Amino acid sequence: MRYKSNLRAGAGMKKATGVPFFDLKQEYQSIKDEVNASVQQVMDGCRFVLGENVNSFEKEFASFCGTEYAVGVANGTDALRLALLVCGIGKGDEVITVPNTFIATTEAISQTGAKIVFVDINSSTYNIDVSRIEGAINEKTKAIVPVHLFGQPADMNPIMKIAREYNLKVIEDVCQAHGAEYKGKKAGSIGDAGCFSFYPSKNLGAFGDGGMVVSNGNKIAQKIKMLRDHGQIKKYEHLLEGYNSRLDEIQAAILRVKLKRLDEWNKLRQKNVSIYNDLLEDVDEVVMPSEAEYAKHVYHLYVIRTHRRDELQDWLKSKGVGTGLHYPIPVHLQKAYEYLGYKEGDFPVTEDCAKQILSLPMFPELTQKEIEKVVTEIKRFFAM
Ligand SMILES: Cc1ncc(COP(=O)(O)O)c(C=O)c1O
Repeated sequence: MRYKSNLRAGAGMKKATGVPFFDLKQEYQSIKDEVNASVQQVMDGCRFVLGENVNSFEKEFASFCGTEYAVGVANGTDALRLALLVCGIGKGDEVITVPNTFIATTEAISQTGAKIVFVDINSSTYNIDVSRIEGAINEKTKAIVPVHLFGQPADMNPIMKIAREYNLKVIEDVCQAHGAEYKGKKAGSIGDAGCFSFYPSKNLGAFGDGGMVVSNGNKIAQKIKMLRDHGQIKKYEHLLEGYNSRLDEIQAAILRVKLKRLDEWNKLRQKNVSIYNDLLEDVDEVVMPSEAEYAKHVYHLYVIRTHRRDELQDWLKSKGVGTGLHYPIPVHLQKAYEYLGYKEGDFPVTEDCAKQILSLPMFPELTQKEIEKVVTEIKRFFAM
């Protein structure tokens, strides 16, 4: 896809110096009046916990995802942990996921008491290599947690087929893929539950922490509602011991304003991707992100690969271009998981990626000029 030269009005007026990795200030400026009014309304009403905004946002988000239910929680890590718990995962169980993720995915698994079991990733999607899942299943395996990394869904049909065959639960980690689709279905709506983070820098981000579990299972939704609020079924009546993990009213009010723009923002991300892809096409040293034929990718991150990653990152930094590494140390090699006994070489695809990946600036308001600067600097680096 070719890009147009006048993508956004005013693009040429931006200062041509540095390019930030992301920029939440521009997004806030574009919705400031509406956000401020919605926050003011919450403050005027003085209902701060589990009120009308959480209730409405849950309905709106369920409708966006095409699920029956959505339950707001305190953050994405809790969304995963509570979803695993209500699916009956606990001590003595094993849960399969990838080592190429943020540690929250595995924290949620181990904090249920279950054992984390890793499966390597596919080198073009960076998501779970579905051909390796069956090899990791044994009689203790109870669930799979596919992570829709960088905004692209994992290959859900084969995952669901394996899950049905071995009677496993599937908890989708959608913390980086708000609005992504797998064969026309929203990421998060396919497994037993889909878990979202609203950390500020996400495609749909709050002004603080927030999370959501979506599901088509009534029992799953009702139990998470109970668990997030101290196991209460009504005030001071506790059916079980729960947690304090509620989405708050101010965050929900802000997220309602932002949800209305999510599709438009995701489209702007995709437009930016087509500019990057066109400009990087002839740079042989760079592997561009690839989009699986089944996927609508929402590019939470635009991740390239190169063998000279560290040098390139330093070069871009010296030119004022912000970048990120997602993730430089695979989870199985983290000190925190030494006890699991994994070693270097166990997951070669993940380990290779960790050394080569570089996330370039990506956010809806990024301009063509800024992308051109990023790519010009990349080309200059490889021409030296
Ligand atoms: C893949 C993945 N899983 C889980 C989480 C946890 O979300 P939160 O930070 O809201 O707890 C994140 C957040 O960064 C994430 O990227």
